[in-house]
Order: sequence, then C-alpha cells, then structure tokens
Amino acid sequence: MLEVRRLTMRFGGLVAIDDLSLTVKANQFLGVIGPNGAGKTTLLNLITGYLTPSSGSITLEGAALVGRKPYHICRMGIARTFQVVQPLAEMTVLENAMTSVFYSGPHRVSITQARDRAFEALSLVGLAEQSGMLAGALTLGNKKKLELARALATRPRLLLLDEVMAGSPQSDVIDLMHVLRAIHASGTSILMIEHLVPVILALAEHVFVLNFGQELYQGRPEDVVTHPEVIESYLGKPLTALADA
Ligand SMILES: Nc1ncnc2c1ncn2[C@@H]1O[C@H](COP(=O)(O)OP(=O)(O)O)[C@@H](O)[C@H]1O
Ligand SMILES: [Mg+2]
Repeated sequence: MLEVRRLTMRFGGLVAIDDLSLTVKANQFLGVIGPNGAGKTTLLNLITGYLTPSSGSITLEGAALVGRKPYHICRMGIARTFQVVQPLAEMTVLENAMTSVFYSGPHRVSITQARDRAFEALSLVGLAEQSGMLAGALTLGNKKKLELARALATRPRLLLLDEVMAGSPQSDVIDLMHVLRAIHASGTSILMIEHLVPVILALAEHVFVLNFGQELYQGRPEDVVTHPEVIESYLGKPLTALADA
C-alpha cells in the first residue's frame, strides 16, 4: 500500500533518514521502534509532506507523494498524529474534530454531517463526554486521544501514529490499545511509532527497527525482541508483550 524507496533526508550535515526502504501492506499493523533520534518522526514528516526528502520516493498505491502538500496527502487517505500534541486549544474538543472533517475532503460537508462524523471519532477514542470542553483544558492523556480522534475524523486508509501512548496513564494505554485494535479490524492500515515496546508487541503484526535512519532489523514481533542487535542498540534486555486487559 505504502512504498518508501531509498529515502534520504539530510539536515545540513546530519543524515536523519539514510537510504531507507520500507513497506506498509494493505491492512497491516506495522510497528516502528528505535532509539531517540533514529529518524522516526522525520519519516512521518516525509510521508505526510511536511518535509521534502533529499532523495528517494514514497508512493501510496502507486501514486507519488513526494512534492504534494500535506492536505493533499491527507485527502489521498493518510492521517497522522503528532508526538507533541497540537490541539486547537481555544476551540472545543468537538470543534477540533469537526475541523478535521472539513479539511479532509474535496467535497462539501454540512455542519450536521461534520458534527456527526466528529462525534463518531470522539466516541471511538472515548472522548464523547469531553466534546464540549475547550481542547486546551484536557489532560495530556486526553489530548493524545484527541490527536487520534482528529486523525480518524479524516477517515484515513492509512493511519500514522507518533508515540500516541507515551505519557498516558496505564488505564489510557489499555483503552487506546482496544481502540487501535478496533480501527485496524475495521480495515485501516496502521504504522505505529511507539516507545512502549510491550504495546507494539501486543498490537503489531510486523515490526521495523530504525537506527541512525536505517533499517536495523524487521520481522515478526517475537523475533525482533530476541534479536541480539536490537537488544544491544535499543531494548537493553529481552521484552514480552503487555498483557491486555
Ligand atoms: N527540522 C529539523 N532540522 C534539523 N534536524 C532535525 C530536524 N528534525 C529532526 N532533526 C534531527 O534528525 C534526527 C532524527 O530526529 P527524529 O526524526 O525526531 O527522531 P526520532 O523521532 O526517532 O526520535 C535527530 O538527530 C534530530 O535532531
Ligand atoms: Mg520522534
């Protein structure tokens, strides 16, 4: 579905993404892990058009993404969350999600349709009760959920998640795991960057390990966490999946 080929991103002398190739298959739940500074967020910024690569290609079902604007890539079916949450703080939670609906398609939607779709996304992540609150007043855990709802309100075929769980209390992590499973089961492909490796192990079908902008290893979750190089450069010790509630 998504093909990243020989992608390189330089910031001055720093090579953040280094000749990287990666595939997300249709309906796949792909986990991406790697140390701080490995290039994970940069990869999302490149896929979504916030950055233009130094070289290489990115295609969604064969259509080239490099050179397109972020809103265009969103309309092609890719949505993302931000590691540093970006709510429209002075607007309500519902208005935040409605804004995503309005920007997500070339077709006009009525206020009623936008409100329904926004509320649906908020309900899915467990924020229905907070829909009238100002987004800036939410807890960090709920701001993370709002990031997810805003992405979902665009009805993506591919959802890119940048540490959507890190910083959330354990109860929210368990909730979000259920939400992500449901989203995936409904046919959405997911690329999830997450520092909580046990969560990745519990959710992802395939795990890609990024290190210094390059592929360190990829494979089944159970193989990744026992791989000596992955343990040495990232995990520190072998890990097991978080038992789901
Ligand atoms: N806009 C930027 N300008 C300069 N350097 C950047 C920029 N964005 C990221 N970097 C650098 O690229 C490297 C990868 O960063 P990032 O993609 O944020 O890593 P990760 O998300 O894996 O922690 C880091 O060394 C970071 O400092
Ligand atoms: Mg990051």
